Amino acid sequence: MREAPPADVTLEAMTLEDLDDVLVIERASFQTPWSRGAFRYELTQNRVARCSVARWRGRLVGYLCLWEIGHEIHVTNLATHPDVRRRGVARVLLGAVLDDARERAVTLAFLEVRPTNAEALGLYERFGFRVIGRRKGYYFDTGEDALVMEARLSGEVF
Ligand SMILES: CC(C)(COP(=O)(O)OP(=O)(O)OC[C@H]1O[C@@H](n2cnc3c(N)ncnc32)[C@H](O)[C@@H]1OP(=O)(O)O)[C@@H](O)C(=O)NCCC(=O)NCCS
Repeated sequence: MREAPPADVTLEAMTLEDLDDVLVIERASFQTPWSRGAFRYELTQNRVARCSVARWRGRLVGYLCLWEIGHEIHVTNLATHPDVRRRGVARVLLGAVLDDARERAVTLAFLEVRPTNAEALGLYERFGFRVIGRRKGYYFDTGEDALVMEARLSGEVF
């Protein structure tokens, strides 16, 4: 049986001081990880970007980045530490971000995901995301297509 979701996960805005821990997770999670510079740009230059980190028992265990443009958010990055996967950390992160977006009258959330990423697809479907399109050859590292997913946030309870 899987462990219950950690009730004591806390979320905060990501800061530059978090980047060492974030990059450990990023490099363990993606074939083509974001660089330190990419995260730095999101934190310091990109006015539409916001990144949050999840901490559990004193450790940074996950993060989520998004762009918010008008009444839409676009999830640009999400990962949890391999040691703590399948314990509800991503659920806490994504749930909090979508709740917060709803409170500020954001109506739509978008993201891209690899069709082979069963973990992420399961997570997103759980939060009401549905496939609305496919971008051919989107991932330049493998040539894989991307599934484009959308969740309508207004008036829905998940
Ligand atoms: C996708 C990812 C963020 C999920 O993080 P996580 O903390 O393990 O997820 P959670 O424990 O909160 O799981 C939430 C839900 O996601 C789905 N899920 C997570 N892992 C899964 C798996 N191995 N198989 C199937 N579904 C899975 C399930 O619906 C799960 O709910 P459940 O446990 O009640 O069934 C994590 O696997 C990860 O970091 N992967 C590498 C990076 C990545 O692919 N990011 C997404 C890019 S689009």
